[in-house]
Amino acid sequence: MVPLSLLTEMRGAAMSLTAAASGLVVFLLSVSAVQGQDGWGVTYSSTEICAVNGSTVEISCSYTYPSTPDGRVNTFEKTCWFSQKKGGERVDPSTFSEYAGRVEDLCENNICTLRIRNLRKSDSAVYWLGIKTSQTAYSGFPGVTLSVTDLQVEGRRSGSSTRLQCLSSCHTSYIWFKNGQKVKEDTSPYAYFSYSPADSYSCALKGYEDFPSPSVYAPKLPSVSVSPSAEIEEGSSVTLTCSSDANPAANYTWYKKNEDSPKASGQIFNITDFRAEHSGSYSCGAQNKLGRSNSNLHLSVGTGSSTMTVNIIRTTLGVLLMLIPVFLLSLWTKKKKALRSTTEAHEPEEIELDSIPEYENDSHTAAQTEDTEEQEDLV
Ligand SMILES: *[C@@H]1O[C@H](CO)[C@@H](O)[C@H](O)[C@H]1NC(C)=O
Repeated sequence: MVPLSLLTEMRGAAMSLTAAASGLVVFLLSVSAVQGQDGWGVTYSSTEICAVNGSTVEISCSYTYPSTPDGRVNTFEKTCWFSQKKGGERVDPSTFSEYAGRVEDLCENNICTLRIRNLRKSDSAVYWLGIKTSQTAYSGFPGVTLSVTDLQVEGRRSGSSTRLQCLSSCHTSYIWFKNGQKVKEDTSPYAYFSYSPADSYSCALKGYEDFPSPSVYAPKLPSVSVSPSAEIEEGSSVTLTCSSDANPAANYTWYKKNEDSPKASGQIFNITDFRAEHSGSYSCGAQNKLGRSNSNLHLSVGTGSSTMTVNIIRTTLGVLLMLIPVFLLSLWTKKKKALRSTTEAHEPEEIELDSIPEYENDSHTAAQTEDTEEQEDLV
């Protein structure tokens, strides 16, 4: 009885030799030769499979084994899938932790299918079926080479057209989507569209239309913001921020109106020590290879809202401070009236105090309840 690993190596060496020497036709012949040899064989529906990240793949084969290879009865016991990455160990995907919850092993009537869902790039490996019988074990190596690919669109605007390339490690037919609608199918990975700044593009591999690449598009209209505000006090600093949705990510350039050279590059533009000459219209340009988009904003020297708030507080405090002597004077006057036992009303001071009701109320209670001597001391 030959160990499975030895068989694996033997078949593997034989296969790669024939395949390398004389190409696909001889390779296929060698498969049938192996099958015919002694009744053993595994025939895969395809030996190269390219699948897209996130999708589901089915690796299928049929197998045969001799029922009485040397006169003795050879009974079938089980089949088992194997996978091996380049330079990696041979594992059983049905039990290996990396595949947990993602594989199904379906075998019926000498046909086996290994289904792997939610494919990852790390699932790229050689897969093959092993057969165990009462007499021996047979390996269907090298089986199927599975490549799991990412999809990416690389694009560039050139004049009035946009040139796109669907990047993938697989070479099959490519499907193109424009704004989510299927518009084209081609065996070339290149596609050309007339330039339109609002369009977005993605590609997919034929058979994997539900797993398209991320969309690429020119920058959308950037949003610009100013901190602390667009009216800036002289000498203070201001921060301009620009942000635009784009794929690939945009780079940013700041211009000032009527000036040719850019003021800054990058999403954030700082002006420290703001001066009158910094006033004016600014524009932020967001650019990627698919296009460009601009937004403007205006800066001016002025009383920013925060400065205004400070000024309002200052003025209010000033007025209140000025009113204190008036208030105390009125208390003093009231006290004198009380002492004189007169009930005259509407002296000029009181009229003025009417404009601040809180103080008027306070003055009444204070005058009535508090010690007169203390009030006098205050004055
Ligand atoms: C911004 O991106 C465009 C397109 O990719 C490129 O041509 C340009 O040189 C970039 N500008 C800067 C400042 O990086």
